[in-house]
Amino acid sequence: MPTTAVVGTQWGDEGKGKVVDFLARDADIVIRSQGGNNAGHTVAVDEEVFKLYHLPCGVLHTEKTSIIGSGMAVQPFRLLDEIAGLNGRGISCENLIISHHAHLIMPYHLMFDELEEQRRCNGDCRGMIGTTKRGIGPVFADKMTRSGFRVCDLAEPVEFKERLQYILKEKNLILTELYKSEPLDPVKVADVYLDVGQKLRPFVGDTVAVVMKGLEENKNILLEGAQGTLLDIDYGIQYPFLTSSHPVSGGFCLGTGIAPNRIDNIYGVVKAYISRVGEGPFPTELKDEFGAALRDRGNEYGTATGRPRRVGWLDLVLLKYAVVINGLTNIVLTKVDVLDELPEIQVAAAYEIDGERIDTLPGDPCLLARANPIYETLPGWLIDTSGLETGDALPEPLANFLDLISEAVDVPITLLGVGTRRRQMVELG
Ligand code: IMP
Repeated sequence: MPTTAVVGTQWGDEGKGKVVDFLARDADIVIRSQGGNNAGHTVAVDEEVFKLYHLPCGVLHTEKTSIIGSGMAVQPFRLLDEIAGLNGRGISCENLIISHHAHLIMPYHLMFDELEEQRRCNGDCRGMIGTTKRGIGPVFADKMTRSGFRVCDLAEPVEFKERLQYILKEKNLILTELYKSEPLDPVKVADVYLDVGQKLRPFVGDTVAVVMKGLEENKNILLEGAQGTLLDIDYGIQYPFLTSSHPVSGGFCLGTGIAPNRIDNIYGVVKAYISRVGEGPFPTELKDEFGAALRDRGNEYGTATGRPRRVGWLDLVLLKYAVVINGLTNIVLTKVDVLDELPEIQVAAAYEIDGERIDTLPGDPCLLARANPIYETLPGWLIDTSGLETGDALPEPLANFLDLISEAVDVPITLLGVGTRRRQMVELG
């Protein structure tokens, strides 16, 4: 395996958790490197379902080292709850290391995220992003303006309190003047954060050093992406309807300290159809009853927020883009079983924009609002794939569906997800 990255190729929710859990069998170290608890990764082990928000799916393999990398932002109370929840189910997190440089989601980040969405919604709501309200935009904004707090700051109570006094002067002005909300008390905030810092301390460490040592010792390292390529703050579709981090493969380097030439394989997770939560363009969206039925069949409701996801047909124009941006070496096609009962399956092969056929993503993503998908229609396979164990005898229509995808993007499909359970993963030759 050496170093393998798993990246979402769509708008998140491609089923990365299950893929990471599957690949983690061969890993020594599993790392999450960007975002925060806006993610929700679901892994079903036998009859038990685990939902992870901050924690890498590697924690379910207790003997592996799991890392929350320096590119992440953590909400310390929720993180402790997540750890305690797993402990309560017999899963020790003793091999978890939280980067001392991960940023802290502060109470005002959560408030700003919520209040700013309300402000954007004032009027016609067209400016609303539809965030998960986990404080992600505000925490990464503070990181960039160098006004943030990091996990290591909790080990220095005097400096932490002093800086918080200073920072809260500005934040309280925004809270009271702009949002007409109550100010926060610096003493109370410091007390609860320093207290939670004590509880987190056993897990905190220098994750870059651990990763460098792992590379030196040729350990197998698995990089677990969160969100998806099309939500990337720079390369997503389209600003501002994005998350405030880098879910593309380049983000793994920034969020872990691993150099680009040390990543050997980049697996792109592709859901057999596509979904999106929140606002923004979505050319193949199915807004009708058929879409609603597909949403239910695929259980397309947010793990982190419970919101219904918008769903649509697979879009090869967007996939080609994701292949290039991430340098994908392999594709994992997930949730194939969700399409089992469909007599016909559609795949967008190109767009028609202003009377012209476009096969690759237009340079100006604003054009997407006017994109009409040009579909290829394939016969469905109409068999239950959930019991498939090998790729030796795939039904012909399914094999054709896979060929259409892998030939369009020139990347092999090496794994198929055919159900929610850990064992429902088929390795293809
Ligand atoms: P934020 O990351 O909470 O700021 O939300 C920004 C956008 O990214 C919204 O459209 C969210 O619905 C979307 N988003 C954030 N995290 C995820 C995820 O893990 N899966 C799917 N969409 C996400």
